[in-house]
Amino acid sequence: MGVPFLDLRAMTDEVMPEAMRRIEAVCASSDFILGEELERFETAFADYCGARHAVGVASGLDALKLILRAYEIGPGDEVLVPAHTFVATALAVSAVGARPVLVDIEPDFFTINPEALASAVTSRTRAVIPVHLYGQTADMDPVVAFARHHGLKVIEDAAQAHGASYGGRRAGGLGDAAAFSFYPGKNLGAFGDGGMVTTDDAALAERVKTLRNYGSSRKYYHEELGENSRLDTLQAAVLNVKLARLDAWNEGRRNAARGYAEELAGAEGLILPREQKPAGHVYHLYVLRSERRDLLMRRLGECRIGCLIHYPVPVHLQKAFAFLGHERGAFPEAERAADEVLSLPMFPTMTREQVSEVAAAVRGKSSGETTEGA
Ligand SMILES: Cc1ncc(COP(=O)(O)O)c(C=O)c1O
Repeated sequence: MGVPFLDLRAMTDEVMPEAMRRIEAVCASSDFILGEELERFETAFADYCGARHAVGVASGLDALKLILRAYEIGPGDEVLVPAHTFVATALAVSAVGARPVLVDIEPDFFTINPEALASAVTSRTRAVIPVHLYGQTADMDPVVAFARHHGLKVIEDAAQAHGASYGGRRAGGLGDAAAFSFYPGKNLGAFGDGGMVTTDDAALAERVKTLRNYGSSRKYYHEELGENSRLDTLQAAVLNVKLARLDAWNEGRRNAARGYAEELAGAEGLILPREQKPAGHVYHLYVLRSERRDLLMRRLGECRIGCLIHYPVPVHLQKAFAFLGHERGAFPEAERAADEVLSLPMFPTMTREQVSEVAAAVRGKSSGETTEGA
């Protein structure tokens, strides 16, 4: 039968009638930029994350960039970033003229290794960006303690972690500020691009609001060199409808993860995802490890099971970051992850039959490998 990597259409269909009503209302009022639906969504999302403020921006990358700009982090400054992440985390640092200083990951959870921070910090370090990768938060207690000790800002990259929690608190409220993405495939995704900054810091929120709007808080008066990076009212209208379903959708993802865990338990040569703190993981992605990853991926493709590699090249080996001057071997855990990770189909509406079909393909093909000596 086959299983897609992501069934976005099922989620779109679920929200469509209400989303269309809201879209029509925005169109009727022509309230397209910085409109009421945006204000409503900012309030609701801040509340959801347990943060005092939320500011809608054009993308997750912009959310990171605008936080860095608002903290006046730029040329001459360094920011600690995990070597295994989506490239946008490091791009944001470079975009403001600062230097991303890469840190290896903790191999069991794929998040920044708190013990590796000490050897990366210098007198120029201004901030650390823990990435809540695959839907699981970084180990925030030691990261925040380290940052406080060294006077660094903690900027959560929560692009993959809407609703994830750590010690009972949600992503977006675990550091000084957080960046979210509403790229359509995220746990909370718009009908296009979008992003959000959350923070308890009123001054930071005001600064980001100004920066996202040409450096202006009063029309045609410009206090600083800003950008145009606002979350569209139309996207906010859709996100308001989807936010009400986020917890149920995350539960659907956790349910699929439990199914995988049951059906893949003990499978030879596979390492299943591990949860740092039970119940906090929202499984944006379900990521296995296998030393025979490429073979497994090819075989799953033959069974029409959608799967992807997140991510095949660590930041320091990307051509764009060659200027950092790292060789292969610089961040061994990030490199090993790039060679071994494989993301299986994961979406809230996955049925147990779909989970079983994927698991059977993973298991069946794994045992086949041995006989063929692959
Ligand atoms: C970890 C991470 N950081 C940042 C981003 C950037 O978000 P966007 O695509 O909205 O710019 C993404 C998603 O694409 C991401 O996965």
